[in-house]
Amino acid sequence: MQEHPPVSHRKVFLAILLVSCLILMIFYYDDTLLTNGFVYDKDQTNYLEAIENATPYSSKPSTRFTTQAPTPTAVKTSPLPRTDSQSEELEFLVYSSKCKIVNLNPFNNDAKKYFHPEKYKACRSLELLTYVTKTDNTATLHIDYNISPSYTKKGISCCYSNVTRKINKSHPDSAITISSCKIFDSNVTIYNDPVMVKCTEVNNTDNKIYENVHIATLMKDDVKKKLDISDNNTKPLSVLFVGIDSISRLSFIRALPKTFKFVEDNGWIPLKGYNKMDDNTFPNLMAILTGYNQTQSYKICNPKVEGMLDKCDMVWFDYRKLGYVTAYGEDEGSINTFNYGKEGFTVPPADYYFRPYVLATEKLSKIRKDSMTYCTGPETAGERILNLAKDFSVTFKGVPNFGFFWMNSFSHNKLNSPTGMDDKVKTFLEDLTTTGVTENSIVFFLSDHGMRFGDIRVTDTGWLEERLPFIYVSFPKWIHQNYTKEYENFKNNTYKLTTPYDIYMTLQHILVLSGHNYTVKASTACPQCKSLFEEMESERSCEDAGITQHWCTCTGYKETSLDAEVTNKVSNFFLERIHSLIRSRNSDHRCAKYSVDKILGASLSQRLLYKNETYLLVKLKTNPKAIFETTITYVGDIRSSNFSLSGGISRLDSYEAHSRCVDDAYLRNYCYCRSTGVRV
Ligand SMILES: *[C@@H]1O[C@H](CO)[C@@H](O)[C@H](O)[C@H]1NC(C)=O
Ligand SMILES: *[C@@H]1O[C@H](CO)[C@@H](O)[C@H](O)[C@H]1NC(C)=O
Ligand SMILES: *[C@@H]1O[C@H](CO)[C@@H](O)[C@H](O)[C@H]1NC(C)=O
Ligand SMILES: *[C@@H]1O[C@H](CO)[C@@H](O)[C@H](O)[C@H]1NC(C)=O
Ligand SMILES: *[C@@H]1O[C@H](CO)[C@@H](O)[C@H](O)[C@H]1NC(C)=O
Ligand SMILES: *[C@@H]1O[C@H](CO)[C@@H](O)[C@H](O)[C@H]1NC(C)=O
Ligand SMILES: *[C@@H]1O[C@H](CO)[C@@H](O)[C@H](O)[C@H]1NC(C)=O
Ligand SMILES: *[C@@H]1O[C@H](CO)[C@@H](O)[C@H](O)[C@H]1NC(C)=O
Ligand SMILES: *[C@@H]1O[C@H](CO)[C@@H](O)[C@H](O)[C@H]1NC(C)=O
Ligand SMILES: *[C@@H]1O[C@H](CO)[C@@H](O)[C@H](O)[C@H]1NC(C)=O
Ligand SMILES: *[C@@H]1O[C@H](CO)[C@@H](O)[C@H](O)[C@H]1NC(C)=O
Repeated sequence: MQEHPPVSHRKVFLAILLVSCLILMIFYYDDTLLTNGFVYDKDQTNYLEAIENATPYSSKPSTRFTTQAPTPTAVKTSPLPRTDSQSEELEFLVYSSKCKIVNLNPFNNDAKKYFHPEKYKACRSLELLTYVTKTDNTATLHIDYNISPSYTKKGISCCYSNVTRKINKSHPDSAITISSCKIFDSNVTIYNDPVMVKCTEVNNTDNKIYENVHIATLMKDDVKKKLDISDNNTKPLSVLFVGIDSISRLSFIRALPKTFKFVEDNGWIPLKGYNKMDDNTFPNLMAILTGYNQTQSYKICNPKVEGMLDKCDMVWFDYRKLGYVTAYGEDEGSINTFNYGKEGFTVPPADYYFRPYVLATEKLSKIRKDSMTYCTGPETAGERILNLAKDFSVTFKGVPNFGFFWMNSFSHNKLNSPTGMDDKVKTFLEDLTTTGVTENSIVFFLSDHGMRFGDIRVTDTGWLEERLPFIYVSFPKWIHQNYTKEYENFKNNTYKLTTPYDIYMTLQHILVLSGHNYTVKASTACPQCKSLFEEMESERSCEDAGITQHWCTCTGYKETSLDAEVTNKVSNFFLERIHSLIRSRNSDHRCAKYSVDKILGASLSQRLLYKNETYLLVKLKTNPKAIFETTITYVGDIRSSNFSLSGGISRLDSYEAHSRCVDDAYLRNYCYCRSTGVRV
């Protein structure tokens, strides 16, 4: 309890409080207010030293991201640098005539300016009052009476409700039903559904002292049946995806140094030239699951039309059909990959679908941090996903399984958000090893892209990092022996240009390696892309890999200045494209027409010998205020040539607060909601 100031001061105190609150509300967007409850004790200097001791980097000044002629160190790229300290000396991660991806120091000056590690912040100081145990496929929810005195000296009374997915509603993937709350004494058996538990002081039901949501992964009858009839002639390789949104390769090294050390020390294989194929989560994960690009995903699996995602030809459905037990869990329900401005699934897409659980946890009291749902009740939303992933993978360790787990809540909005979670993530990966999961599963530990907006994004490192997410893959040891060639190939692809489409091909290849009679389909968007168990050609261009120029990191850029005439030509072209994009989505009446404030930066691509095109990377600031970036392609003289766009238009500042008048997730990137003034 807070101590009250003396009565005479109370009015003054309240007045000050009120004014402060108003000021905070004016300057910070709603939920940031709650965030202020989190005051971090920053201990930066020591922390940075610790990181640098743990992961040695050459003390050379950071390389800027302009590609120069290969220096003697760069020649060292071939063949395959083996140790990390060697690789850090490389000037390029990928080096060929068609692709040169520069190897920036994670602690380059731009990055250092914005990197401020935080400590882990627990959601509550008291230990959890309830927990679940599992024996012989029976789960029991317990009240921990040893802990209860720390909550209240009086007696407690707890009840629980079953949580189920609500069906027959216009948006079938967004609602849950919570049953009435049944009082239980010290334990109760729970089944497959999540349960919500609430505790109050006994005889004082108004005084709620605790609430939480639990779930246990149990063998279900239909899953058991499926396993019983599954083909015993296969040697199944299970697959586990563990994703953390918006973390670049460099940010991973900076923000999660212990996790980084763990994967490096334990032989997890990175893909250092892994380049995203489009802007945000949906297209990049769809590329992995379907081999489609954004246009195709919207056309073939239109997520805005109910039922279309259910019919979508996703590779995880193939796993399910072939007898694998499947699971999908993702935190931050409102922005889930298949639900943000989309309809989601009408029927659960996996045997174990954790969305109802996540939606139930979001009914608990929440604490927002960096404008994300950091705490749902007494636990962090991110750790809940890690726990689900672990429970699922351990439960089905002995049978073929495919788990897909994704986290947004501690990484999506701010560069430094993930720093506090390093220990938790590292421990999770350690647990996968000690429980033997990594001996049965190929684990893809990855992100979809780097930070897409915010301060760092306007820098050179930010441009590069946005496009190069981290990815590490762990293999059961027996693969090294039984599939030596495939494994070697995979390792050899560490320093090649790779994309999400390659993962799509790899997932299909895994089914073949597992002994299934499975016909591999080419990726529709990138027909020439292939499995990472095959050797990637060294001379691979972004076009070969299905990456449009705007997202391609294969050419360096050098800053340039544009004269008035070119500035005008560029600005008009740029604005016209943004406006026509808004018009094409039929929302021109809601969105304001932009005018140019100024061009914040322009850079020209370094010449690629195999092509005559030049690329102009432009950052544009508009009125009303928004910052966009695009890549303009032209041939020959900039004054006389025609411009075209290769790839999309990025939005570099946060659009959240000004785009609420439109539902279309894609359009939100571009629309500035009009209050008055000219429409597009
Ligand atoms: C991988 O690269 C190394 C070094 O270039 C080479 O010796 C080896 O044959 C390659 N492995 C495969 C499977 O191609
Ligand atoms: C929850 O579901 C189980 C199994 O259907 C049932 O036995 C139990 O009574 C339900 N509990 C509540 C609180 O509704
Ligand atoms: C859902 O709708 C179907 C068809 O309209 C109906 O048969 C079924 O009983 C409904 N289920 C519920 C729980 O309302
Ligand atoms: C549940 O509580 C009862 C009564 O206290 C006890 O006998 C039983 O062992 C408990 N069950 C489990 C699974 O702990
Ligand atoms: C709660 O209320 C019941 C009935 O009013 C009473 O018998 C019981 O002793 C009370 N329990 C406590 C812990 O106060
Ligand atoms: C496969 O093996 C399991 C366990 O050994 C067995 O229960 C099942 O019947 C077998 N399935 C077939 C199709 O033989
Ligand atoms: C791996 O190869 C060894 C020896 O060839 C064989 O005994 C073993 O069954 C194979 N393991 C798998 C999982 O295929
Ligand atoms: C594999 O599947 C194809 C098409 O479904 C079928 O024609 C073929 O006979 C199968 N091969 C084996 C070895 O089962
Ligand atoms: C998607 O792929 C198709 C077929 O390769 C291509 O025509 C289209 O331009 C691509 N769209 C994007 C956004 O890359
Ligand atoms: C590039 O331009 C030159 C001169 O116009 C032409 O000869 C050459 O074929 C072009 N190369 C490509 C790859 O288009
Ligand atoms: C630019 O486009 C126009 C209209 O499509 C065309 O007539 C003209 O030849 C193009 N110019 C160049 C340099 O390609």
